[in-house]
Amino acid sequence: MNEKYSVSIRLIHWLMFVLFALIFVLGVVMIEFKETEPWAMYHFHKSTGVVVFLLALLRLVLHFTSKSPSAPAEISTGIYRLSQGVVFLLYLMMILVPISGYALSNLHGYSVDLYGLPLPEFFPKNLNWEKYSSLAHEYLAYSFLGLFLLHLSGVIKHHIQGVEILRRIT
Ligand code: HEM
Ligand code: HEM
Repeated sequence: MNEKYSVSIRLIHWLMFVLFALIFVLGVVMIEFKETEPWAMYHFHKSTGVVVFLLALLRLVLHFTSKSPSAPAEISTGIYRLSQGVVFLLYLMMILVPISGYALSNLHGYSVDLYGLPLPEFFPKNLNWEKYSSLAHEYLAYSFLGLFLLHLSGVIKHHIQGVEILRRIT
């Protein structure tokens, strides 16, 4: 049980944890105070969301090119498969949440920039889709939160049981 993920996977795992936490909280706060026109928050949310998307692509490459530790002997096959299923869905959300945010912005008629650097408009303005695109981004973001909580409870459960999986990612 001394196997670890590669340094790059470990670094990107914790970097993305911090960025996701930041963007999520910012998303909720900026919606709450929308009447005060918190556009600086919107810009930061969108730019950092784009960074998360690029990191997710890099992370997928790292995942498939570096060797992951093998399944811990102390964990049953069923539970291990479940944890891998959650990991798969987390990767899916790392891609879908930012794409839905980008689409929502363009469909509402707003451009996206990367801390001031203008980015292309991938989705033409379409106000018929305004409501659905907002809901899609919101539901996907909250599904991501649910998956994260599942991931976290699995880690805590195994840690309490003395299965030291935390060491593999730290
Ligand atoms: C990468 C991870 C991201 C997460 C976790 C995230 C999360 C969230 C959350 C929780 C909200 C509030 C939803 C609500 O309560 O209605 C939100 C709103 C929003 N997000 Fe994101 N987001 C991400 C990326 C992006 C990206 C890349 C963009 C655009 C390029 C974006 C654009 C927006 C916009 C424009 C809103 C406000 C929608 C409105 O005013 O109705 N997000 N986001
Ligand atoms: C307090 C927060 C977190 C803790 C304690 C935690 C803990 C862990 C641990 C212990 C592992 C290794 C599991 C194993 O050995 O099989 C792991 C892997 C993983 N975690 Fe987390 N995690 C956290 C947050 C997150 C977040 C926010 C995401 C998504 C953005 C995430 C996505 C993943 C993925 C995808 C893997 C598998 C690595 C790979 O195969 O590429 N984790 N995490």
